[in-house]
Amino acid sequence: MKVFHLSVECYPIAKVGGLADVVGALPKYQTKLGVDAAVIMPWYDRPFVKDHSFDVVYEGTFFQGSERLDYSVFKERDNILGFELYLIKIPGKLDRQEVYCYPDEGEQFIAFQHAVLNWFKAKAIVPDIVHCHDHHVGLMPFLMKYSNEYNFLADVKTVATVHNGQYQGWTHWSKAILLPGFDSWKWGLLDWDGLINPLAALIKCCDAYTTVSEGYLEELYVDANGLQHLFYDERHKSVGIVNGIDWDIWNPDKDYTLIENYNLASAFAGKLKNKQALAQQYKIDPALPLLVFIGRFATEKGADLLPDIILDLTENFPGRLSIFILGAGDPAIQARVKMLVDKQIENFDVFFGYDENLAHWLYASADFLLMPSRVEPCGLNQLYAMKYGTLPIVHRVGGLKDTVIDLENNGYGVGFDTLKVADIRKAIVRAVEYYENRSKFEDNQHKIMSLDFSWDKSAAKYLNLYNQLI
Ligand code: ADP
Ligand code: GLC
Repeated sequence: MKVFHLSVECYPIAKVGGLADVVGALPKYQTKLGVDAAVIMPWYDRPFVKDHSFDVVYEGTFFQGSERLDYSVFKERDNILGFELYLIKIPGKLDRQEVYCYPDEGEQFIAFQHAVLNWFKAKAIVPDIVHCHDHHVGLMPFLMKYSNEYNFLADVKTVATVHNGQYQGWTHWSKAILLPGFDSWKWGLLDWDGLINPLAALIKCCDAYTTVSEGYLEELYVDANGLQHLFYDERHKSVGIVNGIDWDIWNPDKDYTLIENYNLASAFAGKLKNKQALAQQYKIDPALPLLVFIGRFATEKGADLLPDIILDLTENFPGRLSIFILGAGDPAIQARVKMLVDKQIENFDVFFGYDENLAHWLYASADFLLMPSRVEPCGLNQLYAMKYGTLPIVHRVGGLKDTVIDLENNGYGVGFDTLKVADIRKAIVRAVEYYENRSKFEDNQHKIMSLDFSWDKSAAKYLNLYNQLI
């Protein structure tokens, strides 16, 4: 079975968040199940493309409106990631460093999808499944069915995975001219509320859609940034499949980025050594339990609440824990966190930016991971944290609700139901008090490290879905 995953992120080539982790792992685990899985993504001006060997497997041309675009398809030579990797390079459009936030982003995504279709046509590539991740590649099922030039792919089954329904790729109808010519009677499939909405088009035109947890699917039926009715109406073709962990990369026993590797038997001591080393570089007290936040500074992640949470803790629960924040994103949130730094709060430090190795080190050093997310389709942080023996403290939404069962319900984590600062503090206090009962805490550490959030189970569910479709 030939499956092409289309995505604009894939670890380790280009990662902004969990989308990259999923697209970098799922195809590898599918390959183990006998699926011929490959990833197609844009070419980025990043170290990975310079440090690895590629062959140009196709060169072509198409018109985007009146602009002629030449493109090349690069194939990574050694299957270094455990699956075939193809990069589409379009000079002037897909040859940049960043994944998002260029003013012509919408045009970049259209060009990416058009180039893939053009290449498929030229080389008569007809896979069994085209698997589209998020709105960036949301026009594919529509174009495969209704474009004049590429509808030879109309019978190929398409799967959409919604990693984040908040972002939909809204595009003004004046840009329709940039799309490959399509059956104009079908324009309504592209439309939502007077705009081209690639996420809506994806959900309308795909053969099946998945969300990255079951809980998030239920939430999308009710609130999906305007698309809830669509998700609900199309629910007959939906399924929630929770993400997994790539055990080759997220394993405290083998993780080369750690100061001290550890396993179930050595977890408490191993984590302490990592924390002590962290304390030599950052302003935290290794004698206190350590709470960390790792993530994008976005309201979705509740990062805007961090200053209030921390100020509240310093007032109402002083001297009981160290806190470390690793994050980057919204400048307004960043400025508020910076104000906290300026206040010189004790046992509190921040690293502004994106640092993959530091993230690993923090999962290993921390005792607790805080996730006050407003929306969390799955969340990988809490899964990584648990594999590294770190107790998750989470807002009970989406994938967090599904994957973190509260200690009070015979589970292994701590949850809170509202985003009121006092409720979050109560959850943190509960976690710290639990930590102080060392033997119970250690037993729980073993429990969370042993939980099976492997990709094997979820990859099998995707395979089952593909089989149903074809
Ligand atoms: P999202 O994709 O919504 O950002 P996820 O929980 O699915 O959330 O995945 C986030 C991923 O990005 C995790 O691998 C996490 O460790 C990583 N990450 C987030 N922010 C940073 C950062 N500032 N530095 C390093 N890694 C980060
Ligand atoms: C999105 C979601 C996150 C999820 C990730 C991978 O970025 O915000 O919750 O874990 O995709 O599916």
